[in-house]
Amino acid sequence: MKRIGIIGAGIMGSGIAYLAAQQGFEVVQYDALEGAVKRSHAAALNRLDKAVESGKITTEDRDQVWSRLTEAQDWHAFGTVDAVIEAVVEVLDVKVDIFQKLDAVVPDGVLLATNTSSLSITAIAQATRRPQDVLGLHFFNPAPVMKLVEIVRGEETSDATVTMAQALAEELGKETIVVQKDTPGFVVNRVLMPLFIEAMRMLEEGVATAEDIDKGVRLGLNHPMGPLTLADFTGLDVDLHVMDYMYDEFHDDRFAAPLVLRRLVRAGHTGKKSGRGFYHYTLHK
Ligand code: NAI
Repeated sequence: MKRIGIIGAGIMGSGIAYLAAQQGFEVVQYDALEGAVKRSHAAALNRLDKAVESGKITTEDRDQVWSRLTEAQDWHAFGTVDAVIEAVVEVLDVKVDIFQKLDAVVPDGVLLATNTSSLSITAIAQATRRPQDVLGLHFFNPAPVMKLVEIVRGEETSDATVTMAQALAEELGKETIVVQKDTPGFVVNRVLMPLFIEAMRMLEEGVATAEDIDKGVRLGLNHPMGPLTLADFTGLDVDLHVMDYMYDEFHDDRFAAPLVLRRLVRAGHTGKKSGRGFYHYTLHK
């Protein structure tokens, strides 16, 4: 594979585009928001300049990576790609619309991947005439840094498509796991959300302070970051959204969002983004 199409130039689309260009792929990128791709590429250049300054890459390396990042002028730009990764807002209708457009221009057999973190791969694949070519390629934030990519099969994803996705992820320098069933939360969030929830419930019950809950998990389980810090990082609003979604899908209390989380989000505290998260939560006051 040489040329990758990326739809979306937000946090994830920008990270994946940068990563792909760094790894030697030609990248053609599209975003519906005027100026978004240009901003994303400017941020990439800034990052490359810093890498030059710190001696990690040469100016030639920077220029080469930079020259691989291009903006799609229209949908026909995706007629010549070897794979597409969609990373637009987490709204099913928007993703369905994009996959319909891709279906009309991308040659059959080209890998069509979505970076959705919660939506059904099967539902997105159904927007096309070739659900066998569609799967989930779930990167983690920041995409250039995080090692894992979850490859998620839809109901009709073919083995050949999974193999293609594994090869692509490998070329992008990632490790993969294959999620064999299209289930909410895939593997990582399915494990992570109950961990977050238990940590938040303990805080709510006054079992220990936020600092001590995190310290316990860091030092006792060898996690690099405690669950409450990580929940602040991922964004409390995002965490709540994921829990509510998983609860709706599974009807299982393991995924029921704790009240403390709901209260913080209602009060506009979204963790690291707002600078206020669990470390500011005091039960006794
Ligand atoms: P974001 O909000 O930073 O970026 C979304 C981009 O999609 C925006 O630039 C927006 O202009 C664009 N967009 C909206 N409608 C569009 C359309 N019709 N056509 C083209 N572009 C359109 O969102 P973020 O965080 O980058 O998330 C993107 C996807 O990645 C979502 O599906 C999300 O669930 C998933 N994801 C997010 C992670 C995260 O930590 N932020 C981690 C892993 C997956």
